[in-house]
Amino acid sequence: MNHVKKYHKKIITTKEDSIIIEGPVPSSELSNYKFHEDLIAFRPAQQQFEAIKGIADLSEGRIIIARKDDLIVGYVTYLHPDPLERWSTFNMENLIELGAIEIIPSYRGVGVASNLLRVSMLDEFMENYIIISTEYYWHWDLDGTKLSIWEYRKVMEKMMAAGGLLPAPTDDPEIISHPANCLMVRIGKNVDEDSIKRFDTLRFLQRHRYRNMREGI
Ligand SMILES: CC(C)(COP(=O)(O)OP(=O)(O)OC[C@H]1O[C@@H](n2cnc3c(N)ncnc32)[C@H](O)[C@@H]1OP(=O)(O)O)[C@@H](O)C(=O)NCCC(=O)NCCS
Repeated sequence: MNHVKKYHKKIITTKEDSIIIEGPVPSSELSNYKFHEDLIAFRPAQQQFEAIKGIADLSEGRIIIARKDDLIVGYVTYLHPDPLERWSTFNMENLIELGAIEIIPSYRGVGVASNLLRVSMLDEFMENYIIISTEYYWHWDLDGTKLSIWEYRKVMEKMMAAGGLLPAPTDDPEIISHPANCLMVRIGKNVDEDSIKRFDTLRFLQRHRYRNMREGI
């Protein structure tokens, strides 16, 4: 699969600022910007900056950023699922994962993340993908936002819906280990039936394996 990436840009205005939402951005372009020191939800800011530059250079990798002038204040990543994870079991070329999304605390709640999702989906090529996001409440910034687990889940749902990702059932043990966790999915309109069937099997891998075992397959 030739992963074609088409750049899009949108400017949003908050009460105080204009924020540029743009991407996919290659690592050469990312290197021209600074990465805000408060982008620490997943790892120390500089390490995360190096990680997102690495993703930008993957053939399927996409980084969409939110920036104020030359300072990156938010980002979202898309790439193939980790080879160690269940979601890479069938090595589906057209399956990508929204791996991380983060906005600095002082810019949250004004639609930056939702707009990262919207700009991501402006690229027609996204219609060729099944896009997933695995949501585990233990990754959420509950302390920083002071939101309850269920309030945070609501934020996640609204933000993901801006990009067309909706909660979908699965029997993944980690996801079903807590009711606030969930799998979010967007199936592009060019995705073929075989891929959708394979993805359904992937969502219910436990059930599928159990059935095969019972039938001696
Ligand atoms: C989750 C996160 C990315 C959301 O970013 P954001 O820019 O604040 O999101 P948005 O402003 O687009 O908000 C989406 C919706 O939730 C609402 N919302 C956001 N923060 C809220 C809050 N603290 N209280 C109530 N509602 C809130 C928004 O009003 C919006 O609702 P609307 O569609 O009705 O207008 C951000 O909180 C963050 O970076 N958290 C740390 C990292 C993380 O948890 N990432 C997700 C796991 S990968």
